[in-house]
Amino acid sequence: MNFTRKDILDMESLSVEEIEFILNTAESLKEISTRSIKKVPTLRGKTIVLFFYEPSTRTRTSFEVAAKRLSADTVSLSGSTSSMVKGETLFDTAKNLEAMNPDVIVIRHNASGVPHMLAKLVQSSIINAGDGMHAHPTQALLDLMTVKEKKGRLDGLRISIIGDIAHSRVARSNIVGFTKMGSEVILTGPPTMIPKGIERMGAKVTFDPDEAISNADVIMVLRIQKERQETFLFPSEREYARLYGLDRDSLSRAKDDVLIMHPGPLNRGVEISPEVADGPHSVILEQVANGVALRMALLYLVCNRVKE
Ligand code: CP
Repeated sequence: MNFTRKDILDMESLSVEEIEFILNTAESLKEISTRSIKKVPTLRGKTIVLFFYEPSTRTRTSFEVAAKRLSADTVSLSGSTSSMVKGETLFDTAKNLEAMNPDVIVIRHNASGVPHMLAKLVQSSIINAGDGMHAHPTQALLDLMTVKEKKGRLDGLRISIIGDIAHSRVARSNIVGFTKMGSEVILTGPPTMIPKGIERMGAKVTFDPDEAISNADVIMVLRIQKERQETFLFPSEREYARLYGLDRDSLSRAKDDVLIMHPGPLNRGVEISPEVADGPHSVILEQVANGVALRMALLYLVCNRVKE
């Protein structure tokens, strides 16, 4: 297919065909990271700005590694080191970055909708690296890639997402991504962390974690996002771990070939026990490795898109 998309903003706007094309491109680029010289000249002369207004380990680093493996130049900017601390608006920051003519701006921001706003404002491609509680499309794409690699398909699978659904952009993007690709998505967690009406996105809700665990082909565990909670939504971390944490005992009720996923960062002993996070069902570090290939694919595709 001809890839024509300038920006990667959310999973809603990507078609099934585009998602399949992105995943196939990522699979073909993955081998580069296994070479002794992990670099190809594909994006030589391209400039990628990494503008992270919120903390990140995996997304920021993997975008930088991805860009460098394709020989692009990268420039990093954070909220605290930009002139936004002196009162410059996001609009002016974006227009000034645009004046330096980067090919791609990868942005993470705590406000939902910022990448969409920038995409209308600037000529550079915008890639959403996570906006507020709204969307994290590159995480959802690398999760789809990991499940497809491990299970050989996406359609007909049952994906259970456990935890703080209310505050999770990863959950929202994965609900859209997995249902679009033919999987069934089941959500579970404390009732205070499951937004009313979330079923309208195409997922099912159960308040019985054992039901979600025992029927799943994939269990995706989410961190409690304390930084986005305005009030206490559960009595204590100990209580949460006992009722909703995935440990050896709760995992014993899962299918033998279940995959355990987590977008990171982990709170070991809260939503997931160390023996499950590091156990044989876990593909958590494979998600991280696939994040590099997936982001190489996105940078390659938006930089080489067919302009309509
Ligand atoms: N999964 C994820 O977005 O991790 P970071 O916050 O470390 O980028």
